This record gives sequence, structure tokens and C-alpha cells, in this order.
Amino acid sequence: MAKHTIVLIPGDGIGPEVAHAAARVMEAAGLDAKWVEMPAGASAVEKGYGDVLPKETLAAITEHKVALKGPVTTPIGGGFASVNVQLRKKLNLYAAVRPVRSMPGIKTRYENVDIVVIRENTEGLYSGIENEVTAGVVTSMKVATEVACTRIAKYAFEYARSRGRKRVTSFHKANIMKLTDGMFIRCAKKVHDEAYTDIIYDELIIDAASMRLIQDPTKFDMILCENLYGDIVSDMCAALVGGLGVVPGANIGEHAAVFEAVHGSAPDIAGKNLANPLACIMSGVMMLNHIGETAVAAKIKTAYNNILAEGKCLTRDLGGTAGTTEFTAALIAHL
Ligand code: NAI
Repeated sequence: MAKHTIVLIPGDGIGPEVAHAAARVMEAAGLDAKWVEMPAGASAVEKGYGDVLPKETLAAITEHKVALKGPVTTPIGGGFASVNVQLRKKLNLYAAVRPVRSMPGIKTRYENVDIVVIRENTEGLYSGIENEVTAGVVTSMKVATEVACTRIAKYAFEYARSRGRKRVTSFHKANIMKLTDGMFIRCAKKVHDEAYTDIIYDELIIDAASMRLIQDPTKFDMILCENLYGDIVSDMCAALVGGLGVVPGANIGEHAAVFEAVHGSAPDIAGKNLANPLACIMSGVMMLNHIGETAVAAKIKTAYNNILAEGKCLTRDLGGTAGTTEFTAALIAHL
């Protein structure tokens, strides 16, 4: 019997290419795991499941507690509700964790970027409560609850303390959204003042914060955001370290965790062997640390750092010519 059972959700677009690459790398690095492959997204409907988020997929994650997921496509301006939003809400995966770090060999404007974005994953404008008041007038409701704001703040400060991080900065717009964003920062400050005064806590209004982040990202340590700001800030941070191909992520709940890259299904390059699988592989490394396979995680991390530093086998998004499969094979050879 395998030591771990892990749910693998290939997803849509480039999802199957990068998710299978990540599973191959982990196996080659010595992970003893049984992969339970489950569908989600448009591909779930194509496979004959009646839903973009089949109940069988939710049940498998609930049973095995950990999943590696490829991105899924969400239709714009209509169609079904986002699979990701549904998944995060149904499994209460309340904390999105996105570490954004400068990578060896990847030349960007800044060196030594090392930021962790913590995004509240279950409410805000992503509650999807939209309403047509009358013809030509629509509204979208932003939801903030004390429970969720307090829970994500605690998660951020615990994360900071357990990893020796020094500062947590909330990005907000409480000058305009006085109740919702006001609640978000009030809860964060309360959690800080009551139990985490060993960590510096501060707050920045998100528009000016975005400018400061782009001007000098090395000044930031951890960024705490509600759902929408966290989504946008994560992609902005990705641009600072080489793009969406190199930023991993985790969605953490009390009973389950789903690991996935920050990027989407990239329909423009899907099926062309052009996707950089590294973000998904790095998400896999986060998953390995989560399940206690720290030695396997370290082995993979060393291999990708070496291959990036060498700069000989890079995917197109990083200025190279290697395809998804060539990069994956080279990484396996480096293990
Ligand atoms: P995207 O992240 O899929 O793509 C943005 C740009 O980055 C594209 O030019 C794409 O080719 C490039 N890119 C993304 N990942 C890459 C990789 N691994 N290697 C090389 N290049 C990469 O964002 P977009 O186009 O806004 O969204 C496409 C679809 O993905 C939408 O349906 C969206 O809803 C969905 N999406 C899903 C997510 C998830 O499942 N976690 C997250 C974000 C978007």
C-alpha cells in the first residue's frame, strides 16, 4: 500500500499538462503515493459528469484530505459559477497562500523579492451575490464576516510566527468600504494586538500600496488581503519574479488542502507543449511539505533551482525554448 493517497485534478487547458508533469516529478523524486485522478471544470462535463464540480471529486478530497489541482476554465460574463470559488467555499479552504520569491537565474527588475500573499478565500465579492435591480442596474454584494476576517488574520500571524517572518501588512480600501474592509482590518488589528505583538502589523490603502509594491517589492514581507485584492495582488507579485509560470499556491482549510498554481488554464497555449509546469511543480513542493515529505520536497526544490540557475533548459515564458515535456524531463534528470 502506498504511503500517501493524493487526489490529482488535471483540470482544463494547460492543467493536464502541468498537473501530470508535477506528479511525474514527485514520483521520480521518490514520493510513495497513490494518485486518485478526479475531474473538475469543463473537462468534467465533457467526461459525462453532470456538473463542473462533481460530488465525487469533492468526496475524494474530503476523504483523502489533500489534492494537487490544475487550473480550470471559468466562463466570462455568464455560464456556470467558478469551480474554484465553489471548491474553496464547499471545502472551507479559507486561506490561500501564495509565496512569491525571486528565482535563481530569472532576471527581473528586482532581486531578493520574498513575499507571501495570504488571501481570504471564502467571501468578499466572490460570494457571487449579484442582482439585477432593474433593467440597466445591477449590484454585487461584498460580504465580510467577523468569523472569516478573524480566522484569516490568525492564519496569517501563525504563518508569520512559524516561519520567522517579521511583518504582516493588510491591503484594504476601508476609507471607501468602511463596513466590509473596515471589518477586515479591525479584526486583523485585534488578532495582532491580542496575541501576535512579536510580529509587526501595519495597514496600507490598496491603491497606494500597489504603487509601493511595484516601486520596491523588497520592502514587503507578508501581505494580507480579502478575496478580490488577494487575487489581483498575487498576479501583480508574480510579475515581479518572472511571471505566472513560477508562482505556486495552496488553499488551506481545517480539514483539507488543495494545492494549485496561481495561473489559470491559459487557453492560448493549451495542448501545445508550451506551458511552464514549474508553478504547478512548486505547488506540489508546498504539498509535500504539508504532508511531511520534506526530504522529497527539498530534492525537487534543489533540482529546479539548479536548472533555473544553469539557464540552459527554460520554457518560453522564461525566455527559453524548452517545451513542457522537455523541461519536465530535464528536471527529472537533475533530481
Ligand atoms: P491565465 O493565468 O490562464 O493566463 C494569463 C497569461 O499567462 C496567458 O498569456 C498564459 O498563456 C500565460 N500563462 C499562464 N500560465 C502559464 C504557464 N504555466 N506557462 C506559461 N504561460 C502561462 O489567465 P487568464 O487568461 O486570465 O484565464 C484563463 C482561464 O483560467 C479563465 O477561464 C480563468 O477563469 C481561469 N483561471 C483559473 C484559475 C484556477 O483554476 N486556479 C486561476 C486563474 C484563472
